[in-house]
Amino acid sequence: MTEEVILRTESEEETHALGVRLGLVLLGGERIGLSGELGAGKTCLVRGIAEGLGVPGDPVRSPSFTLMAIYEGGRRPLYHLDLFRLLPGALDRLALREYLYGDGIAVIEWFERLGEPLEDFLEISMTFVGADSRRLVARGHGLRYAPLLDALREAEQKRLSRRGAKKEKKYR
Ligand SMILES: Nc1ncnc2c1ncn2[C@@H]1O[C@H](COP(=O)(O)OP(=O)(O)OP(=O)(O)O)[C@@H](O)[C@H]1O
Ligand SMILES: [Mg+2]
Repeated sequence: MTEEVILRTESEEETHALGVRLGLVLLGGERIGLSGELGAGKTCLVRGIAEGLGVPGDPVRSPSFTLMAIYEGGRRPLYHLDLFRLLPGALDRLALREYLYGDGIAVIEWFERLGEPLEDFLEISMTFVGADSRRLVARGHGLRYAPLLDALREAEQKRLSRRGAKKEKKYR
């Protein structure tokens, strides 16, 4: 069964905050596949996930030149992969499996380039709506992603009610 949550963020901070929400409920063993054009906010979301997981130190940067960055020191290891610059055939899939299907959390930017479909994962696609506005669609492939989808749904409901409250103030 595939469950879907649609969200909107209006700033880098809001996307980061969504990442933190996800990071807080991650247990280990999850995969999160991120898709979306350059600058959509994938790395921004990963930075939030790292924070939610309690990863100490410098914030996450894009690992484009190394393919993968490992962040230890949080509740679980975080494996941040960015496959944008991947050359066809260059991926050692067998070696990657250790990270994709281990006890940590694998977050994969441009996951479509993996070359083999992920089976059990949370898919988040991000699209531009405006300069600072993004639409996110989260889909859970597998039962273990229900808590993550719940966290996202709750965050979106809070955002909408905040916005509603703001609008009301304006009209008063
Ligand atoms: N709502 C938003 N959410 C996230 N980032 C936003 C938002 N609005 C504006 N931005 C800006 O968009 C950029 C997102 O950059 P980021 O590196 O996270 O994108 P990316 O999807 O990882 O790109 P790439 O494919 O190059 O890795 C940042 O400069 C950020 O300030
Ligand atoms: Mg990125």
